[in-house]
Amino acid sequence: MADPPIFSFFCNSIIVLSLLPLSYTADTLSSVQSIREGETLVSPGRKFELGFFSAGSSKNSCLGIWFVVSPETVVWVANRNNPLTDSNGTLKISNEGELVILNRSNSIIWSKNSTKVLGNLVAQLLDSGNLVLRECNSLESADYSWQTFDYPSNTILVGMTLGWNFKTGLESHLTS
Ligand SMILES: *[C@@H]1O[C@H](CO)[C@@H](O)[C@H](O)[C@H]1NC(C)=O
Ligand SMILES: *[C@@H]1O[C@H](CO)[C@@H](O)[C@H](O)[C@H]1NC(C)=O
Ligand SMILES: *[C@@H]1O[C@H](CO)[C@@H](O)[C@H](O)[C@H]1NC(C)=O
Repeated sequence: MADPPIFSFFCNSIIVLSLLPLSYTADTLSSVQSIREGETLVSPGRKFELGFFSAGSSKNSCLGIWFVVSPETVVWVANRNNPLTDSNGTLKISNEGELVILNRSNSIIWSKNSTKVLGNLVAQLLDSGNLVLRECNSLESADYSWQTFDYPSNTILVGMTLGWNFKTGLESHLTS
């Protein structure tokens, strides 16, 4: 697999990039960056987008992945069982190499352990809709330390040809 240009640029320029806001279209989150409400990752082919969203009129928000062409079709949700009660969530890679969501008071409300001890981790949203945590210098899928596709109960894309309209289901969950 050829490295996408952004990849080499990214690994070599982490410090520089950390000074940039995530407002440009990025598919990769480095260990020194974070995603807040309103900021998103977009897969290289612009198929999938990851970010915080609120369902309906709810103020609660969750981190999810949705189709770029159909944002109401959320295909994966991270903190479904522990939604944020305000719009001040942050997604980042912790010093321990976990993907974490922090609330306004910097408490971890959702986290995913790495299964492998790796070096410099990045999180990348792929065109398959898979969010992977991997070593910056490796694109090998065997080296993914964590991926949403490993969680089929949460990952509606696995084995499915149609997206799942999550909005209705989430609304009843969040307002209960
Ligand atoms: C929480 O989010 C709101 C809206 O995005 C923002 O105006 C406010 O500054 C945030 N508060 C904190 C403590 O980050
Ligand atoms: C953040 O989460 C912690 C632990 O769940 C909770 O005690 C705290 O009230 C939360 N803070 C906000 C601002 O939601
Ligand atoms: C991974 O998760 C377990 C519990 O699920 C926790 O005890 C452990 O500290 C976590 N590992 C890291 C590196 O945080």
